Amino acid sequence: MITKINDLLGRVEAFAPTTAAEVEEFRIKILGKKGELTALMDEFKSVPAEQKRELGQKINALKQAAQARINELKATLQSSAVKSEAIDDMTRPGSAEADGTRHPISIVKNQIVDIFSRLGYTVAEGPEIEDDWHVFSALNFPLSHPARDMQDTFFVEKASNEPNVKDLLLRTHTSSIQVRAMEHQKPPIRIVCPGRVFRNEAISYRAHCIFHQVEGLYIDENVSFADMKQSILYFAKEMFGESATIRMRPSYFPFTEPSAEVDVSCNLCGGKGCNVCKGTGWLEIMGCGMVDPNVLEASGIDSKKYSGFAFGMGVERIAMLKYGVKDLRLYFENDVRFLHQFDSAL
Ligand code: DAH
Repeated sequence: MITKINDLLGRVEAFAPTTAAEVEEFRIKILGKKGELTALMDEFKSVPAEQKRELGQKINALKQAAQARINELKATLQSSAVKSEAIDDMTRPGSAEADGTRHPISIVKNQIVDIFSRLGYTVAEGPEIEDDWHVFSALNFPLSHPARDMQDTFFVEKASNEPNVKDLLLRTHTSSIQVRAMEHQKPPIRIVCPGRVFRNEAISYRAHCIFHQVEGLYIDENVSFADMKQSILYFAKEMFGESATIRMRPSYFPFTEPSAEVDVSCNLCGGKGCNVCKGTGWLEIMGCGMVDPNVLEASGIDSKKYSGFAFGMGVERIAMLKYGVKDLRLYFENDVRFLHQFDSAL
């Protein structure tokens, strides 16, 4: 019997198959119900008691070795089969990769830019780390204005105490880009400025310390409030549907005079009043106004010759209204189950 065990062990070790099917055949032949090892086990039952211990150990070792060898051969042959299949037929169709989708904030930002580009606006961008001049002073914010307060603005610590190193801060609005545009371009200027902005706000369903805005600016000779109203009405209809209407409420911004806040008719209830528009039928979508002559002059534009309007809107807010999302934080968590629900046509 010992010779049989050693012979089988030798064959197990020497076994060199080329396909997984051969391994399976071998397994059945050795370990199967009617296999050689099973036959050896039967024979073992009639072995004299004094030989049982030694032979039992040998049979067990053989069984383990056979099982281990078969498992190992199966694993290597299967993975090389996958590889060689892939190389064998280069004309086989590839396996489909699921497409990602664009982030809803990018979709809405692109739509806003696209709508204004049809009115002749081009895109302008500016830095996220700004100086006081572009975010506040050039926009006619008085030195004591509460927006400069530590509560609202993230200031960047100075790396050096040199007097000519500027005070840096994270921009709190994209209106800073209109200042940069006016400094570098001559009218007519017609730009939309998308970008990220930062405010020191507690994070909640309706506020975040990082969000996105699109600023618009149009400067030329004889630009009027009526021009602004019509441009914004066009935008509202393109964004929220042909039946959308707007209304303007007087407001105040340091950089525009007169200033207004724009409401769009609630697209969920058609203006009848619902819980989203809090029964008013209107939803606030942006601030706007005629560029204050002080702002034009601060950037070197002759306020006697030129006039213009500006507007600014929050992208998250427009996206929330458009898609009926009630919690702003969802836009930042990047849970793919949320993100996959938005189409990526733009
Ligand atoms: N910068 C303002 C904000 O962050 C938005 C804004 C309001 C921009 C009126 C404008 C404007 O250009 O005219 O709240």
